[in-house]
Amino acid sequence: MSSFLQSIGSLATAGMMLLSGALEEAAPQNDIDGLLFLANRQWTLHEAFEPELVITPVRGQVRRLRPDAAAALTEMFEACKKDTGVTLMSVSGYREYAKQARIYQRKLRSVKKNVEKADEYVARPGASEHQLGLAMDVGQVQTGTQLSSSFGKTKGGKWVLEHCWEYGFILRYNKGWEEITGYQYEPWHVRYVGKENARLIHEADIPLETYLLAVRESVLLDIVTPNGTGGEIE
Ligand code: DAL
Ligand code: ZN
Repeated sequence: MSSFLQSIGSLATAGMMLLSGALEEAAPQNDIDGLLFLANRQWTLHEAFEPELVITPVRGQVRRLRPDAAAALTEMFEACKKDTGVTLMSVSGYREYAKQARIYQRKLRSVKKNVEKADEYVARPGASEHQLGLAMDVGQVQTGTQLSSSFGKTKGGKWVLEHCWEYGFILRYNKGWEEITGYQYEPWHVRYVGKENARLIHEADIPLETYLLAVRESVLLDIVTPNGTGGEIE
């Protein structure tokens, strides 16, 4: 096991640390054009923020993504078709702040204004990584645009779960991570983080928030030595 993964192991209490606010210093939040920028309930985006966007050349709707994510998604959809015969489709990619606000209000109405319930499924405006242009809700052409947990049981959904990391994506809201991510299981929502990060996150089987804490830990290990002179330690 790499020392990086061992350092992730040492973060067994990461969930509690997150709740107590330790993430504040963990995320590389100075790089909004980077791969690891975090958008969640604690870290919200400015109303006016809009990334560079392209239309992803795949089947589906709401196809705009950041160029790096669009290229990776196209590659992933082609690979799924080749491996399984299933044609994946985009259901919802980039969403601007105002659109996220409309989606949140719609959800709120559908759960009879139960705010807690709405918050389990839809991010409030500014808190969605769809606004980063790095998230895509994926469906299958064969089964349509309805997003439900049953996508995880379909041929395409299973393939995405198993292979998305190879293309630089992570399943952002997996089962068992609800306490940390703040959202229910969403087998359809993938987030682009680049191939290296996706591989490490997949191997460690952790949410992005926990990974960011581990990255921070590992950066600290690299620059601080026991005698304080700098350089690497084992
Ligand atoms: N459904 C995810 C959490 C979003 O609204 O971004
Ligand atoms: Zn989504």
